[in-house]
Amino acid sequence: MLIPSLLMFSLLFVSSFASVQDFCVADLKQSDTPSGFPCKDPKKVTEADFVYSGIGKAGNTTNLIKAAVTPAFTAQFPGVNGLGISIARLDLAVGGVIPMHTHPGASELLVVIEGTICAGFISSANTVYFKTLNKGDIMVFPQGLLHFQLNSGKSSAQAFVSFGSAVPGLQITDFALFANELPTELVAATTFLDVAQIKKLKGVLGGSN
Ligand SMILES: *[C@@H]1O[C@H](CO)[C@@H](O)[C@H](O)[C@H]1NC(C)=O
Repeated sequence: MLIPSLLMFSLLFVSSFASVQDFCVADLKQSDTPSGFPCKDPKKVTEADFVYSGIGKAGNTTNLIKAAVTPAFTAQFPGVNGLGISIARLDLAVGGVIPMHTHPGASELLVVIEGTICAGFISSANTVYFKTLNKGDIMVFPQGLLHFQLNSGKSSAQAFVSFGSAVPGLQITDFALFANELPTELVAATTFLDVAQIKKLKGVLGGSN
């Protein structure tokens, strides 16, 4: 009898601890770390932590880029913390664009739900891969590479993009160059762009100096 009860005990022991390690819902009240947010107390985790309705609605495209990105990353959807996946919704009005950008932390998979999107990326060898995508088409964007999506159709477009990280990160090239305080002369010297164009873009995007 001793052996079966020991076995039973160890099975119970293993299964109760295994369930704790199934997930690590982010405790957003604590600080982020390089390996993700600390875990919310598993006893307080409910279905609601694994469900998010925020990407069910179209984003507001009344803005400079005529487009909206609605993310479901760890910050919005704590259930993906530590799972290596996340998703976002793209809405693009006619002429809308997700400007040239990178996600330092993840590759991206796009699926077109509605409309026509011209999408592409630029490799480290500066080779450009771009294509006009229609409803149902998918395209993959390798991690860290510059890429863009442009509504090239005559109606609004919608897509979902999934990422191989719960925190893919986002750096938009124009904002990186023109929405900060780096002196115009330094931007000019390091990009070969002319000063008038830099000042114009700083004005539009909120940069200074
Ligand atoms: C969309 O954004 C614009 C500009 O910020 C704003 O004026 C408008 O009220 C917003 N529309 C909705 C439906 O929230």
